[in-house]
Order: sequence, then C-alpha cells, then structure tokens
Amino acid sequence: MQYQLLKLIFRFFGTSSFYDVNVPNKRVVDYSNLDDIKRGNETSVVYKDHSRVFLGWFQGRIQEHDFARKRVLDLGSGFGGRTIHYAQAGGPALCVGIDIDEVGVSEGSKFARYLGQTNLQFVLGRGEQLPFKENAFDYVLSYDVLEHVNDFEHVFQEVYRVLRKGGRFLSVFPPYYGPMGHHIKRTKLPWINVFFSTEKTYEVLRKEYGDSFELWPHRGKILRRGLNGTTVKAYRRYLGRSQYKIVHEKLAPLLSKPTEIYRGIRSQTLKELLRILFAPTPKIPMLREFLTHRIVFVLEK
Ligand SMILES: C[S@@+](CC[C@H](N)C(=O)[O-])C[C@H]1O[C@@H](n2cnc3c(N)ncnc32)[C@H](O)[C@@H]1O
Repeated sequence: MQYQLLKLIFRFFGTSSFYDVNVPNKRVVDYSNLDDIKRGNETSVVYKDHSRVFLGWFQGRIQEHDFARKRVLDLGSGFGGRTIHYAQAGGPALCVGIDIDEVGVSEGSKFARYLGQTNLQFVLGRGEQLPFKENAFDYVLSYDVLEHVNDFEHVFQEVYRVLRKGGRFLSVFPPYYGPMGHHIKRTKLPWINVFFSTEKTYEVLRKEYGDSFELWPHRGKILRRGLNGTTVKAYRRYLGRSQYKIVHEKLAPLLSKPTEIYRGIRSQTLKELLRILFAPTPKIPMLREFLTHRIVFVLEK
C-alpha cells in the first residue's frame, strides 16, 4: 500500500529536470578552455551565482566587505564556486574552502588557479576534525552543509575551536522535517519523510528508478547516508550545550527570501500572500519543525 502510494507520488509529482545523488553535472571542465567554463560545471555556475544567495539570508547583517583582511573558512565548500567569490569580492587575507569531496576540492582548486586567485586554498577534510590550529579564523561560513555532516555537535565544537575570540560562525541549513529536508530531488512534493518510512521511500526509488542510496541507522533513526536528520529541536539542544553567544538566529519560514523553493509559482501576488501566511509559522511550536525552511544563525565565540 505504502509502496503503491509512493510510486504514484513520484509519478505525479516527479520532475525530470531534477537529479539526485548521481549528480550528472559533476562534470569535469577544462579550465584552459573558456567555452567549456562558459558552459559551466557546478564550480563556475555557483561562482556566477556567488555569495549573494548565502549572505542574502542575513538581511544585511553581514556584507562581503566585512571579510576584508580577515581569515575566512568556507566549511563544506562543495565545488568551491562560492568560496572563490568570497576570496575575490570580500578581499579577505585568506580564504579556505574545506570539503570531504575530492572532486569538489580539485575542481575548486583548478578554477581558482585559472582565475589566478592567490588568497585562497582548498583543503580535503572533515568538519568534525578540522586540520587547523586554534583561533585560526575570523569567520566560518557554511551553506547547506550542517544537515549532511556525520556529527553535527562535533562540527559545532570544532568550529568553535578554530575561531578566534570574537570570531563568527555563519550558517544556513534546512532542518530534517522542513519542507524539502528529505533531499529527494525526484519530487517537488514536501514532507515525504514525515509521512513515509525511509526504507519504503528508498525501496521505491531503487526499484522504480534504479537510484542507489545507502541507508544507515543514525541516532535512533534510519536515514539516507549523507543526511544526519537534525531537527530544529536537536539543533537547539546542541546550541544550548555549546559556548557560543547567539548574535542572530532566524527560523526562516517557507517562501522567505532568498528562497529557491516554489520558483514554480509565477504570480507575485500569490507568492506575497503565501509569504505573509507562512511568516509566523516557525514561531508556532506545533508547526516549527515542519514549516522551517532554513535555520539561519550567526554565532560568536
Ligand atoms: C549541498 S553541498 C553545499 C556546497 C556549498 N556550501 C555551496 O553552497 O555550494 C554540501 C557539501 O557539504 C559537504 N560535506 C558533507 N559532510 C561534510 C563534512 N563532514 N565536512 C565537510 N564537508 C562536508 C559535501 O561534500 C558537500 O560538498
């Protein structure tokens, strides 16, 4: 029954323009060939889209010029496009991108070399065990990464260690039961992980679409490997146990700006109406977990 329902959901709400873990656009480009770069791989696409999207979540509290002459770490830099942008636009003394993904680190490095950017380094490593000394950075930035790390709390502690006193940790990430917290890009339908078991969902994806996902028992849940299942409640618990000072925190509701979700709604009036409707929802305890689109925070050591 669950299987059939899920099959129907994926059929009706599926979208071919999305992809999932097999990520076809992890295309390796030739950085000596301008046409290849223009066609874009993930590094150059994110580079062009640059940090606007990340810093936009902080509504003017942090600007690129705040990075001037500072040491900045981009934790979970992915393909590095955003990191390269920070290194160029903000004028930091040093910008480091760190990621567990070798392809991303290598593509980011190649693109930086191609641009001749020298205040920048990409490092292969894990947020849980940062290969840096205490007090090494003024800023740690992390965009859509904390929901993926193996051990959220450990990353929190490591970031604290590498920040200098007064340094800031800026992050934006989606909670697990938020609308698209399931990260299943075969469908635009939200909350699949609220209504269906992980095992059944991935059984359908495996059998019907040939997708390969590894499931793993993690903190009492069965999750897809690569997601840690952090909820708003869990994040608050980790934060409560940490030594950070909260400078800014926002549970951003659905359709908050900048948002990537529901780009499909064309009518601006309808969007605005929905935005007004959703705005108070993260403040309502019963709805918070499900209607928080992103957790946005600025923490200080
Ligand atoms: C959704 S991508 C975001 C990439 C980038 N921040 C951006 O905005 O384009 C998440 C990234 O987190 C990385 N990641 C996952 N777990 C990590 C960990 N424990 N330490 C460092 N990076 C990690 C992944 O390899 C992936 O590149």
